Amino acid sequence: MKTKLLLPLVLFAAAILSMAFQTDTKPWVVPDKNVKMVNPVKTSPASVSAGKALYIKNCIDCHGKTGIGNGKKAPDLKSTPADMTKPAFQSQTDGALFYKISEGRNDMPRGKKDYPDESDRWNLVNYVRTFGAGK
Ligand code: HEC
Repeated sequence: MKTKLLLPLVLFAAAILSMAFQTDTKPWVVPDKNVKMVNPVKTSPASVSAGKALYIKNCIDCHGKTGIGNGKKAPDLKSTPADMTKPAFQSQTDGALFYKISEGRNDMPRGKKDYPDESDRWNLVNYVRTFGAGK
């Protein structure tokens, strides 16, 4: 009787453990309506420099000066900040980036709370676009 119970118990524990350790690697799914959201703040030197000021103050410690994810806090994080210069990052829509900056996940803070003004978050989107190749 006891051994019969052991197997499901071990499987259950393994499932819980793998969930706990996989939060970092699971793809970050953005709801379709957010992916399709149009950026209402057209990119401009003013928007990019407003985004840059926020980035230097609030993002650089984890994401690094050039967006590659090598900020001074990065080694202490349990999750990994993505390399923002890469196509995997830059190919996302403005709406998807806005959603991730707004909602946060794991070590990534919830921007919605820290920057309640949506235009701040769109300025951040416009700034992180400058990390893409050729800009
Ligand atoms: C405390 C460290 C930390 C700070 C501060 C931080 N981030 Fe992050 N960020 C992360 C981590 C870690 C991830 C990856 C989270 C995950 O995948 O679960 C992330 C993910 C992201 C993503 C999604 C990347 C992808 O994979 O598509 C964006 C966009 C982003 N951050 C932008 C910002 C911006 C803009 C700021 C400043 C307003 C900021 N982050 C501040 C740690 C941080």
